[in-house]
Amino acid sequence: GASVRPLVAGNWKMNGLAAQLAEAQAVRDAIAKAAPKADVMLCPPATLLAQMAWTVKGSNVLLGGQDCHAEAAGAFTGDISAEMLADAGARAVIVGHSERRALHGELDRQVRAKAAAAHRAGLAAIVCVGETAGERAAGLTEEVVRRQLAGSLPDAATAANTVVAYEPVWAIGTGLTPTVADVARVHAAIRAALTDRFGGEGRGMRILYGGSVKPSNAKELLAINDVNGALVGGASLKAADFLGILAFYG
Ligand code: G3P
Repeated sequence: GASVRPLVAGNWKMNGLAAQLAEAQAVRDAIAKAAPKADVMLCPPATLLAQMAWTVKGSNVLLGGQDCHAEAAGAFTGDISAEMLADAGARAVIVGHSERRALHGELDRQVRAKAAAAHRAGLAAIVCVGETAGERAAGLTEEVVRRQLAGSLPDAATAANTVVAYEPVWAIGTGLTPTVADVARVHAAIRAALTDRFGGEGRGMRILYGGSVKPSNAKELLAINDVNGALVGGASLKAADFLGILAFYG
């Protein structure tokens, strides 16, 4: 709905050494001037989070992690907890990204536990869902997305602590995007599922579109009903491209 404040989040994935902080600086400086009518978030690799928190301190740039462990602390070598992300300056964490689901075998129930961990740590969970090319070809898109939502969202999800990102797997990093009609249909199905389960909270949850969003297609994708912003991968690595997408919100 019109009352939902949009969110444009950049997922840097496994990209970014210290020199890349210059892009965060550029985003910070640009939005200080432009004051877009959207929340702006960067999700750098965990190694850059604390430094980036200094970079964006006092600005409107929010920070997020890209994944978290379900536990708060313990003998989990190499893992990072939601509490640690919060401590480093994050306000949110992406969970259940298709790359985690595909490359790390994450299942809905694990994604749900990670989302609950985010909430426990005071972070918003950005919960990703989306069908593969095969599922789409088989006409299963809405069924897959509904099943992922049912399994991945904790019962305590609210409009304030939960964001859904619809990322068709085949559109990620490929330059391919669904048609406007397809995005509208899937986002409407997601909204219906959220409202059925969470009532007014579900009506207020932001639903982001992700998958090959770039300045040249942002206008058409972000104007779609129930698209409340974007989760941007490749185009978030360059401040100019990210800002070009953000320009939709003024
Ligand atoms: O999480 C964002 C992402 O998966 C989309 O990536 O590179 O297609 O914008 P990209």
